Amino acid sequence: MIGVIYWSGTGNTEQMAHAVAAGIKAAGQDVEVKSVSEVSVADAEKYEKLALGCADMGAEQLEEMEFEPFYTELEPKLGGKKLVIFGSYGWGGTWLEDWSTRIKDAGGDLLADGLAVFGEPDDAGKAQCEELGKTLANA
Ligand SMILES: Cc1cc2nc3c(=O)[nH]c(=O)nc-3n(C[C@H](O)[C@H](O)[C@H](O)COP(=O)(O)O)c2cc1C
Repeated sequence: MIGVIYWSGTGNTEQMAHAVAAGIKAAGQDVEVKSVSEVSVADAEKYEKLALGCADMGAEQLEEMEFEPFYTELEPKLGGKKLVIFGSYGWGGTWLEDWSTRIKDAGGDLLADGLAVFGEPDDAGKAQCEELGKTLANA
């Protein structure tokens, strides 16, 4: 089972999460999509592979009330875990680079560059999300 876990304030990253999940399903793998508020770190680490999504918040940061504490607790458990990351941004879009560095430093097996989509994902953005899901499913 693959987990797609996301934080989204206005629904853009949530749409991306569902498109990533569609790609995972299209590749023939089982997937669960959860908002970060619906899942514990213990549950998250049980997934065989993870797609993590968070909108660009603060000043090029992960959302700090819910997602950052969740991710900080999950981070030491990512050693060897296959994962991808994604999220929507409004004007900057560099938060995924810092997040990627954190994942790699923690020993996570990041399978692709983080996927940043501006605003609400259009059809092309959703297609990129589906490809990311397939990359995770087929790894
Ligand atoms: C409080 C707040 C802080 C934000 N900070 C950034 C930022 O630092 N860089 C950026 O590119 N976008 C920033 N944004 C814009 C969001 O990333 C953008 O609206 C995104 O599409 C929201 O995705 P969501 O619908 O999944 O919440 C911020 C938005 C809010 C509300």
